[in-house]
Amino acid sequence: MGSRMDVLLGAQWGDEGKGKVVDVMAPDYDVIARFQGGPNAGHTLIFEGKKHVLHTIPSGVFREGTVNLVGNGVVIDPVIFLKEVNALKAVGVDVRDNLLLSRRAHLILPTHRALDAASEAEKGSSKIGSTLKGIGPTYMDKTGRNGMRVGDLELPDRMDRFRSLTEKHERLLGMYDRAGATKEAEEEWLAAVDVLRSMRTVDSEHYLDQALRDGKRVLAEGAQGTLLDIDFGTYPFVTSSNTICAGACTGLGVAPNRIAKVVGIFKAYCTRVGSGPFPTELHDADGEHIRQVGREFGSTTGRPRRCGWLDLPALHYAVMINGITELAMMKADVLSGMDHLQVCIGYTINGEFTERMPYDITGPIEPVLKTVEGWNELRADDPLPGGLERYIELIESYVKVPITLVSLGPDRAETVLRQATMAN
Ligand code: IMP
Repeated sequence: MGSRMDVLLGAQWGDEGKGKVVDVMAPDYDVIARFQGGPNAGHTLIFEGKKHVLHTIPSGVFREGTVNLVGNGVVIDPVIFLKEVNALKAVGVDVRDNLLLSRRAHLILPTHRALDAASEAEKGSSKIGSTLKGIGPTYMDKTGRNGMRVGDLELPDRMDRFRSLTEKHERLLGMYDRAGATKEAEEEWLAAVDVLRSMRTVDSEHYLDQALRDGKRVLAEGAQGTLLDIDFGTYPFVTSSNTICAGACTGLGVAPNRIAKVVGIFKAYCTRVGSGPFPTELHDADGEHIRQVGREFGSTTGRPRRCGWLDLPALHYAVMINGITELAMMKADVLSGMDHLQVCIGYTINGEFTERMPYDITGPIEPVLKTVEGWNELRADDPLPGGLERYIELIESYVKVPITLVSLGPDRAETVLRQATMAN
């Protein structure tokens, strides 16, 4: 009875191109639901020659008739949210028509951002490389049972709640010698909250339960990526939420047995922004070439992304932990024209070869690289060149999951759907 929910998530360190794939897949769905993260994300969509970056609002917002839901697992900064709403209005999209917010989603306060900055500064050279959007402190307040939720904005004592949490933060900021730094930001925040209060709110668990019972097609949209997951990522260089498939259950209130497809998005190579281990990182001309051709600069912070070869053990780990049923490979065009590529097929740790992602990749770890042939020009209307087909087959045979979508450029139109050549 009813339908089941599909999940789309990042299989690497984020920035895989989830926004583009959601946008391409959106016509097949009635509801697109974000399940975790917040404005640390930057989902880029390009169509009709225009670029749009979304931070909080799901990537189905440009498709008429699609409902976009911000789930309980998401943390919302009203100020950034308002900027997104206004940017969408400027291109003719009125989110009031098709956006719903979960009452259980937590709010990022100006003091959360200040605490994020203070905590990172305190860490010095061991900093996480956070986007400084207040994500960590907001999730800390959520699990510490101090947080403020979207639903609280409907309550008569909302200002008391805001003041009491802000005061608590101010005491903490005082310990970092940063008290009183957010006074100006507070006014902007309170004005943005008024707009947030005018949005349609729902209990996402009940809304999605009914939608699935009614046979509606629901796609859960993840942010960041598997290797940034708070439990299974490269801790402590991770984000503060569950980016993996299980996060779609807790972040929306949908039971695991209602999940059907799990689509993992990965780039034909790897990138990482911020600090933390990255076994296949390139510090040479190849890395710089990938960064320039792939325009690998953060869509939220503008920081240059670290670039490296595709890491198959890490991808295999993502397939395992998420139950990925199919993969979408992004940015194959960026590697075009390289005679040879390298792919990581295992690691050497203390002289021992392993294909398994270890507990800790912050220690001495050497990638074992296999050299493969490259490919030239790619066009969405032409068959994929032999070098790329063989690259795809190598990945499929390693991770045992079919690659059903290959992206050859940022535009919606530059997308090739592939018949699964293997069963999973
Ligand atoms: P935070 O989530 O802003 O605290 O950042 C924690 C780590 O996750 C940092 O290394 C960030 O660079 C990384 N990160 C957070 N959001 C994204 C994202 O959307 N794409 C890629 N990396 C991210």
